[in-house]
Amino acid sequence: KLIRGRLLSFKAEPRSIDDHDAYIFDEDGAVLVEDGVILASGGFAQVAAGAEAGYAVVDHRPHLILPGFIDAHAHFPQMQVIASYGAELLDWLNDYTFPEETRFSDIQHGRHIARLFFDELLRNGTTTVAAYCSVHKESAEAFFAEALARNMCVVGGKVMMDRNAPAALTDTPQSSYDDTKALIGEWHGRGRLNYAVTPRFAITSSPEQLEMAAALMREFPDLHMQTHLSENHDEIALTAEVYPDAPDYTGIYEQYGLLGPKALLGHCIHLSEREADVLSDTGSVAVFCPTSNLFLGSGLFDYQRYRKREKPLRLASATDVGGGTNYSMLRTMDEGYKVIALNGEKLNPLASFWQITRGNAEALSLSERVGTLEPGTDADIVVLNARATPVMELRMERVETLAEELFLLQTLADDRAIVETYVAGEAAKSAL
Ligand code: GUN
Ligand code: FE
Repeated sequence: KLIRGRLLSFKAEPRSIDDHDAYIFDEDGAVLVEDGVILASGGFAQVAAGAEAGYAVVDHRPHLILPGFIDAHAHFPQMQVIASYGAELLDWLNDYTFPEETRFSDIQHGRHIARLFFDELLRNGTTTVAAYCSVHKESAEAFFAEALARNMCVVGGKVMMDRNAPAALTDTPQSSYDDTKALIGEWHGRGRLNYAVTPRFAITSSPEQLEMAAALMREFPDLHMQTHLSENHDEIALTAEVYPDAPDYTGIYEQYGLLGPKALLGHCIHLSEREADVLSDTGSVAVFCPTSNLFLGSGLFDYQRYRKREKPLRLASATDVGGGTNYSMLRTMDEGYKVIALNGEKLNPLASFWQITRGNAEALSLSERVGTLEPGTDADIVVLNARATPVMELRMERVETLAEELFLLQTLADDRAIVETYVAGEAAKSAL
């Protein structure tokens, strides 16, 4: 199959709007796909000339073809939590989120929501997600089974939480270890599935449970670890109460040996310089969740400070649904742009699209497989129409450059602009 269109793929993080070396753009480009893998990509004529006869052509011109979007942090059991009014993080968890997550002890419910969750991601051009399931191993079963059936590249894990939550939503250090280990054995490495050891955050994990998480990471050092860090001032204060001996919030995860290049830390809004240094030194990833941080009133993530400091942080971006308010990575980066603007900087649109494709793939250590259109990688692709709505069409009359077109998409597009989402070479959005 040959997918033809205006091809855009990033080689490196664009340092400015004029950094043309950072990306490959072809007005008449193509991706040649076989068995879910990209065989060749580049100019249409060249790719077509190198292809064996008999392929089908899907011509998406004048639409843009990019690598599928990657969401580095979301909660699949929170589809019915999104848009819950009026609370900051700790009340929001207790009043809305924990009651909802108790329903995921029922695997039928988990299966139902997992189907709708992946439908919604694909509708928005997202082909890879790093997701939290509920505490129940059944929720992780439902999540991974659905991702496997769709041949999607995902990261996920059962939440470990053994305190400061309703009884129906807690495990124990031992059961969380046993369930996680069983889930790793059953799902990790199957299809395109990646297991993440997932202690929810320090407040809901006892020291004994964090020790179990650390034991799992020692046993399975190639796994991801995902948790929350420094999101909200009340959360930080409560964390200090329940871990009185730790130097700071980051120091808890540091002491248990949970940090490293595959550690994904959601939020990281209120970090001290010491904490930022620790994340940098360990190669851990700070995940920017702009719609969530704004919606819950958590604070302004200082993306540029983290990127430009002497010891820079590895960064990712994410929806954090259902604390976040939109499934779209375009809507997410639109809000991200505004947060960065409030911190006195502007994120250039090339860097923004790099972030949600290759940038997030690198942050998740998945860039060998996804996040680019390079030959040999998986054919996860999104097709974007910058004239999808009357408002966009009108604004496009004033657009002259690729960067302007991308910025228009980021600022104005919703799922109507997602013409198609391909998962491993198969058209997945139009099949919904
Ligand atoms: N901290 C601990 N759990 C959660 C959660 O589900 N969402 C957010 N935004 N923060 C958390
Ligand atoms: Fe979260």
